[in-house]
Amino acid sequence: MMILGIESSCDETAAALVERGEIVHASVVASQTDLHAEYAGVVPEIASRAHVERMLPTIREALARAGVGLGMIDAVAVGHRPGLIGSLLVGVSAAKALAWSLGRPLIGVDHVHAHLYSGMLRPTEASGVEAVAFPALGLVVSGGHTSMYLLESWTDVKRLGATIDDAIGEAFDKVAAVLGLPFPGGPNLDRLAASPGTNAQACEFPISRIAPGSLDFSFSGLKTAVLYAARGVPGARGAPAPELTAARRADIAASFQRAAVEAVILKLRRALDGPANGVGTLVAGGGVTANSLLRARLSGLAAERSLRLVLPPPSLSIDNGAMIAGLGYHLHGAGRVADLSLRAVPTSAL
Ligand code: KG4
Ligand code: ZN
Repeated sequence: MMILGIESSCDETAAALVERGEIVHASVVASQTDLHAEYAGVVPEIASRAHVERMLPTIREALARAGVGLGMIDAVAVGHRPGLIGSLLVGVSAAKALAWSLGRPLIGVDHVHAHLYSGMLRPTEASGVEAVAFPALGLVVSGGHTSMYLLESWTDVKRLGATIDDAIGEAFDKVAAVLGLPFPGGPNLDRLAASPGTNAQACEFPISRIAPGSLDFSFSGLKTAVLYAARGVPGARGAPAPELTAARRADIAASFQRAAVEAVILKLRRALDGPANGVGTLVAGGGVTANSLLRARLSGLAAERSLRLVLPPPSLSIDNGAMIAGLGYHLHGAGRVADLSLRAVPTSAL
């Protein structure tokens, strides 16, 4: 079964062709980073206009790269929630038009749910990914979400905890802006933190715990602590903040990254000692799983707890259409097919 996956929830216009929910024949992502860079953040109106311009060329390019004609598509899956409403509407409208004109099923996919699935995708028939043994613990760390889930199957997912303020990716982006790094902040901060001679212990930033046993996340306190470390505490009578030299910026970046990643690992441990006790697999997805320190710490945790870790390659950590088509296959198998009344919704259903 060949599914066309369409994604337009934020600032990436993406389309992919995925067979049997696994084999990625083509995945095309048209990033709008250049359009939003001068505003240091995504401007919704610019994003939706760019989606309108790029949607059809992106779908055409995916079809061409896969060598697949429209008639060979068995279903059309689209990320219809959560996201910027104007952006989502472009993908949803394109998917409806294609599904209707081809007489093929339409599948509405939750973008956050699809991030959880992204580690199951592979480029060719030859490189197989073993099926996941459920229940599994799930983690989504992205620009809009930071959550943990208990998965009973790919379609039966229960949320264990979520951020009560900022998402981790948002914190990376804001901290990067405070340190004067260009947009998009997360990958640039990752690179700066990894520069030679950097000390990740230089600043004692808070690792949020919230309350004993809490499975929720919080990153706003950490973000403020970084701001004060970089610019000084407002009204403080003590010593002013050290000069923000290149070395100090790198130390702050590394110290922030360590605290943010440790907060995620701490909550995963709590989940593994609590409601996810006994799971054999940890599945993780979302843009921040491209982070080098987080990838290393997740591998370490998996080894320590004898867990199988399912992680997307960095190219599928960030938003893409392949994860939408991949999860769409399982939703279709479970009979969760939409009709032309499918709506774009700003919030996640998970
Ligand atoms: O999943 P995604 O592409 O979009 C959302 O669904 O939000 O995630 C984007 C987020 C951004 O905040 C970006 O800065 C962050 O993922 N990100 C990273 C890295 N690569 C992307 N954060 C830290 N380190 C990275 N290497
Ligand atoms: Zn995303």
